[in-house]
Amino acid sequence: MKKIGIMTTGGDCSGLNTAIHRLNFGAMRRGWEIIGILDGTDGLSHDTPKVIKFDSKTLPIENVRLSGSFLCNGHAAAQNFETAAKTGKFEEFNNKLKKSLDKLKLDALILIGGNGSLSLAYKNRDLYADLSLICIPKTIDMDIPMTDRTIGFETAVQQLVSYCDQLMLTARSHHRWFIVQTMGREAGNLALNAGMAMGADAILIPEIKFDIDELVKHIKNQPRDYGIIMVSEGISLRGHSGKPADMISRALSAAGVINRTAYPEHIQRAGDTTATDRLLALKMADCALDAISNNETFVMTAMINGKCKTISLEEFFNNGDIVCDPNIPNMETSDAYVSPEDPLLKIAVNMGIYIGEVK
Ligand code: F6P
Repeated sequence: MKKIGIMTTGGDCSGLNTAIHRLNFGAMRRGWEIIGILDGTDGLSHDTPKVIKFDSKTLPIENVRLSGSFLCNGHAAAQNFETAAKTGKFEEFNNKLKKSLDKLKLDALILIGGNGSLSLAYKNRDLYADLSLICIPKTIDMDIPMTDRTIGFETAVQQLVSYCDQLMLTARSHHRWFIVQTMGREAGNLALNAGMAMGADAILIPEIKFDIDELVKHIKNQPRDYGIIMVSEGISLRGHSGKPADMISRALSAAGVINRTAYPEHIQRAGDTTATDRLLALKMADCALDAISNNETFVMTAMINGKCKTISLEEFFNNGDIVCDPNIPNMETSDAYVSPEDPLLKIAVNMGIYIGEVK
């Protein structure tokens, strides 16, 4: 009988509970013992690891739609690689984790994480040398190389679309524009997809340079005096500081365009998991369990051209844009951004939506 552990790390998103539920049931059907590690790596940093044993009553089916992680992702005082690095205790922390993993005697660990966690797992692989490490990509940012989709992205897009649908009505009533700032870090996928889905008149993303005068001209030329301008949190405007939406708002106000800013913030990470995200979580959970059965290790489940399969963590890491981790010295992260080939870019241009100075 195999013993497997599940851990959710990094920021939460919708779809984590679906994945956990499916992993639990799939593992039980295979006759495996399954435990959940609480609060991400914090659960492994204590003398007695903080874990719960799963059974058929753990995380009932009616709760799989709920956002957040049933296992939690960490708290302000939680120990993780970032906090350990900040206090110069990276090695010590690593040793604690190794001890806990040895104590738990896991055959496999399923790590559901974002690009930071996955990159760290690859770069720090000695830690998992004695077990089978299977990663499942999740993030609302969709900035993980080598997978067409990440768990949580689609629900975040839906949350933004619903949010903007509501704003549009008050925008119309007051003849004003709303500048909506999305999350996404340095990747514009969330802003681009949500903006295109809800009918924004302009979408600004970090991957494409924009000209503020052109944006103002574009908005002034619209046949309506209201609408949405979607801006990703990763954009910047030369000579300006502050929140991106505020910078754009000031420029529009200076040109006489009546506007307000709106910050959906963590609502993007909440919301009932969409059917598409649930199906993605289901496929990835099944693929992860198969990978354990096949004795694979250091792999990530990936959606590629509609098929879910495993790829090596090495392939994941080397196919992204490798940048220094801002929070952990001497650590690198592999990132993905909006591709210049993304069909939505061409559609935006064809539809007369301002997305910056595209060639
Ligand atoms: O990576 C997910 C994400 O939601 C980003 O889009 C955002 O910048 C960040 O996490 C917010 O982090 P926190 O929850 O710590 O404010």
